[in-house]
Amino acid sequence: MADKNKSATLTLEGKSFELPVLSPTAGPEVIDIRKLYAQAGVFTYDPGFTSTASCDSTITYIDGDEGELLHRGYPIDQLAEKSHYLEVCFLLLYGHLPTADELEKFEVLVTRHTMIHEQMHYFFRGFRRDSHPMATMVGVVGAMSAFYHDSLDINDQHQREVASIRLIAKMPTIAAMAYKYSIGQPFVYPRNDLDYAANFLHMCFSVPAEQYNVDPILSRAMDRIFTLHADHEQNASTSTVRLASSSGANPFACIAAGIACLWGPAHGGANQACLEMLREIGSVDRIPEYLARAKDKNDPFRLMGFGHRVYKNFDPRAKVMKESADEVLALLGVENNPTLQVAKELEKIALEDPYFIEKKLYPNVDFYSGIILDAIGFPTSMFTPIFALARTVGWVSQWKEQLADPQLKIGRPRQLYLGETSRDYVDIENR
Ligand code: CMC
Repeated sequence: MADKNKSATLTLEGKSFELPVLSPTAGPEVIDIRKLYAQAGVFTYDPGFTSTASCDSTITYIDGDEGELLHRGYPIDQLAEKSHYLEVCFLLLYGHLPTADELEKFEVLVTRHTMIHEQMHYFFRGFRRDSHPMATMVGVVGAMSAFYHDSLDINDQHQREVASIRLIAKMPTIAAMAYKYSIGQPFVYPRNDLDYAANFLHMCFSVPAEQYNVDPILSRAMDRIFTLHADHEQNASTSTVRLASSSGANPFACIAAGIACLWGPAHGGANQACLEMLREIGSVDRIPEYLARAKDKNDPFRLMGFGHRVYKNFDPRAKVMKESADEVLALLGVENNPTLQVAKELEKIALEDPYFIEKKLYPNVDFYSGIILDAIGFPTSMFTPIFALARTVGWVSQWKEQLADPQLKIGRPRQLYLGETSRDYVDIENR
């Protein structure tokens, strides 16, 4: 909302320009520069968007200094403790906690959309078996637009709704199929009598040859991992989804773009990179060597699972994830696992180290999620696909919010051009 009593003044070559100030319900005030170019003929420069609000939103709020994360106003630790993933999905999508009746209907709706078009099985078979499951997911989710023609029209509210439910419901099936394909096992169909997280474990770990019973502690841990990754405001992959969608692209193409962005090691790929780093360190006595490398300006190595663009205090998701990790490891009796010992010691040493204290580098959500997923039995290549399936609801909620905005414009950043100015073409013999 524009605050009539507040404005910012930009002075440029003796001329002053008044810029409106927008007041959020929480967080810093925002200077509205939409008319700046038209009025003053200048752009603003902010690579990496460290000071730029790219949209307005009512879904998720993060206070990085306080280590606070709210979904529709509800703190993440309360949701992780008292709620569960599908209820959080409803909350993110529709803005309020569901009544018992609303929740039941929503759960039935999602459960009834978990199967994928049978023809898609053949599509999977086109990939090499050793493809990274994220590569398969980018391809298969993008290909949903070739299978679900009746939910591609972004201007039809009903079709948008159907696409949203399809994406949330089918993503675990697609991720589990990508996994099964990579290990040469048959695809496992979803089971409607299981909840969302238990069904995912069933599709990943059961085989036709024998009975598989999902352990409730593991499915609860899985559900928590989904809940803690559900949305995170305008991060790189969410902004990618919004930018792709701003051109009017179909929902499946937009979510595939989000998955591609999430794959990078600075974003969702960090959970895989973190566990691989812990394994590479291998033993507690090698930690100082890796800490020295992380601090060395001439070494590109970074401690994976540490630091965050927004959190300059403990990542609130990491706190809950740490508790969950302790629970799962106690159940599975793997406390003496060397990777875990390295993780615990690394966390302790880094939190006491002046470099990490000064730069406010705390363990993030990926530091602990990898440890849990490893203990459950997932290979590291599945860590980022699991993040992607959990984040789908966030992407979808933000996509729906964006399309409902009557002021939607195609996203089209400007640039600070530093290249050659106009020059004449030189014939090849004269170069
Ligand atoms: N290890 C060592 N030094 C670090 C690290 C790290 N993990 N992270 C940041 N720094 C240093 C960095 O070198 C810089 O130092 P200086 O000021 O001397 O140049 C300073 O801290 C600030 O870092 P930055 O790169 O300017 O911060 P950013 O906001 O651009 O990057 C980040 C945030 C998450 C990309 C980064 O901290 C990082 O690469 N962390 C490791 C990867 C990781 O765990 N990513 C998962 C993020 S949480 C899950 C998600 O939401 O995707």
